[in-house]
Amino acid sequence: MPEINPHILRYDSLPSTNDEVARQAALGADEGLCVIAAEQTAGRGRLQRAWLSPKNAGLYLSILLRPALDQQSWPLITFVAALAVNDALLQCCNLKTDIKWPNDLLSNDRKLCGILAETIETSTGRAVIVGIGINVRKNSFPVELELVATSVETETGRAVAPDELLESLLGAFSKHYQTLQQASGNESIVRAVSARSSYASNKRIRVNVDGNLVGTTRGLESDGSLRVETDDGEVKTIRAGDVTVVRAT
Ligand code: BTN
Repeated sequence: MPEINPHILRYDSLPSTNDEVARQAALGADEGLCVIAAEQTAGRGRLQRAWLSPKNAGLYLSILLRPALDQQSWPLITFVAALAVNDALLQCCNLKTDIKWPNDLLSNDRKLCGILAETIETSTGRAVIVGIGINVRKNSFPVELELVATSVETETGRAVAPDELLESLLGAFSKHYQTLQQASGNESIVRAVSARSSYASNKRIRVNVDGNLVGTTRGLESDGSLRVETDDGEVKTIRAGDVTVVRAT
């Protein structure tokens, strides 16, 4: 199975590393292009949200993939990224994180990392851009976000060197991406995420589909969908959505 052979390009400032990778992909860039910026002036998150990216306060990067995978496995590329960040934070910072379905990493229930995977058409075929934002330094976002967001420095007392984290992340990404390409790769990736996610099973959640569905999570399907059992016992399969925890009152 082909490994990712990263070709790293560093920038002082970019509007968005995802947009820069999209631009270079349209010009024919190969799989493995990795664009990293010290700051983003128009960083983007899911659902048209902004991703605050102050200079040297986080790791902001995007990786270009040209997957030779069944289209149904493509949603699992987000899981590959989540596993890679989870591994890298454990390896470099001894920090254990929780994977919040489908694409956030949390520490102490607060968001430390977000992942934005986008698909684009290029003249050499469809490509995926995997954008990863990790909060590294504390006090780098507005106080009102401190209830929901955290950073490596807040959690460990130490701001990891971005290059150390990047190297570990790319190594882990390559390993999990290879796994995804193997026979039964989907199942292996889903099993690994389930083992590192308190959200996969037995979590009371609300998800913004069907007018805010409330229920209890009942595991992941092999395509990465989340099974949610509603209070009347019906099990729904959720392909995409924004999940929040429902706490007992
Ligand atoms: C989310 O949680 O909504 C996803 C956030 C993804 C942020 C990263 S930072 C690097 C890359 N460039 C962007 O503009 N967004 C992603």
